Amino acid sequence: MPRRFVDERRRDPYYRAAQREGLRSRAAFKFAYLDDRFHLLRPGLRVLDLGAAPGGWSLVARERLGTRGEVVAVDPRPIELIAGVRVVRGRVGDPSLLGALGPTPFDVVLSDMSPRISGAYATDHARSVDLVRAGLALARQVLRPGGAYVAKVFAGDLLDGLVEEVGRSFEEVRRTKPPASREPSSELYLVARGFRAVAPESPRAGERERSASDIYGRSLPRSPF
Ligand SMILES: C[S@@+](CC[C@H](N)C(=O)[O-])C[C@H]1O[C@@H](n2cnc3c(N)ncnc32)[C@H](O)[C@@H]1O
Repeated sequence: MPRRFVDERRRDPYYRAAQREGLRSRAAFKFAYLDDRFHLLRPGLRVLDLGAAPGGWSLVARERLGTRGEVVAVDPRPIELIAGVRVVRGRVGDPSLLGALGPTPFDVVLSDMSPRISGAYATDHARSVDLVRAGLALARQVLRPGGAYVAKVFAGDLLDGLVEEVGRSFEEVRRTKPPASREPSSELYLVARGFRAVAPESPRAGERERSASDIYGRSLPRSPF
């Protein structure tokens, strides 16, 4: 690890707090902020955490759900066991993932997925947009009506189009940058709430999207979220 990176990390208050509090990543503070601000979690909800390794967001979600509800964490990288969190080793975009998640719909889908950073701004931006789209495609299949999708994205010229795309399936989409997100980083988070199982302005007019109710074969009650 380069010396400069190690020194910067040692000075980083969020990194030090994460170590002190037994959190697995400084990213945990970003999610704690998002939940404090947007009230995403409450006891009893089912949460799907995409790009979950090493497990910081899942730990926060598990703690905030209390003893009820469920957290399912997905990542191709291994995640050390977290009490009360089901880990699915898999990749968003892989068609077999849906089956591995099981038949019960989710109230909240989180995505802190990051592409492998190339250092080329446009490439990293485009790859992160692809990940948000892949997470959105999955969220559309597993979310209960009224549910929420939260996704990290790197800012760039595709962002406005992406927000519009996400907005077709949700009542509202907000953009935010948590204080724990490093200032020079172009990352921000989209917080989409009020999932509409049927997109009103589908690009193919009149066509219904394949939603959780289609997949689970019954009409789902609206999420209490
Ligand atoms: C910044 S880390 C997530 C940190 C995590 N939220 C935490 O709090 O510990 C980004 C993760 O995205 C994962 N990732 C990238 N592409 C993915 C994909 N297609 N499916 C699932 N996870 C992916 C990476 O393996 C990596 O673990």
